[in-house]
Amino acid sequence: MLSADLPPMTVVPALMPQGPFALWRSESGILSLQADRCPHRGMRLSHGFVRGEALSCIYHGWRYAQNGRCLKIPAHPRLEPPEAIRVETYAVTESGGLIWGCLETPAGAPPNFDGFAPLRMMSVKVSPQMIATSDEVDRRADGALAIELAGQHCLFLARAQPDGSTLLFCLIEEAAAPEARIAVSRALELFRCRLEADDLQKEAL
Ligand code: FES
Repeated sequence: MLSADLPPMTVVPALMPQGPFALWRSESGILSLQADRCPHRGMRLSHGFVRGEALSCIYHGWRYAQNGRCLKIPAHPRLEPPEAIRVETYAVTESGGLIWGCLETPAGAPPNFDGFAPLRMMSVKVSPQMIATSDEVDRRADGALAIELAGQHCLFLARAQPDGSTLLFCLIEEAAAPEARIAVSRALELFRCRLEADDLQKEAL
C-alpha cells in the first residue's frame, strides 16, 4: 500500500493471496498488520476503529494493542483480559513511501528504489505474470518492472490479488514535475486498458 493512503487513526483490509489482513496506523503513526478476525466472535477487525494506539472491534468493542494483545473488554470493564486473547500480528514496515508487510520472518529490509517516489496504485484485471511479460516492461534485478510512460521513466511493483487480478504500484522519478505526473497517470490508465483488452482477446481465442 502507499503510505500516503493510510493516514493515522485508519484501518483498512489488506487483501493478500493468503486472505485478508487488517492494516492500521495508530494516532502516533505506528503501523500494525494483524489477522482480520476478532478472537471474540470472528468479526473482521478491518471494519473496526483505531482508538489512540489500539484497534477496536466494531462488534462488541474488544480493544487490541499493536502487539495483538487484548487490552479491554467493554462488557467487563474491571477484567484484565487474559494474555491468551490476542490477534495474530505480522511484520510491517515503511520504506520509500510504501508499506511492506510480511507474513513470515522477513528475509531482509524491503528493496530501496532510490530516486523514485510512489505516484499511485491501481487494480488491473490481469495476472502479475501478464504484466511482467508485456513487451512494454523490462524486469529489473530488484524485482521491479521498468517502463516508459508519457516519456517518463517509471517503475511498477505488481502484487497478486486473491481474485487473480493485480494491484499495480507505479513509482515515478522524484524530480518529475506535476504536469509529468498527470501525464503518467493518464498513460497508466491506457496501459491498463491495453492489458485488459489483450487478456480478453486471449480468452476469446
Ligand atoms: S466480535 Fe469482536 S468484540 Fe465481539
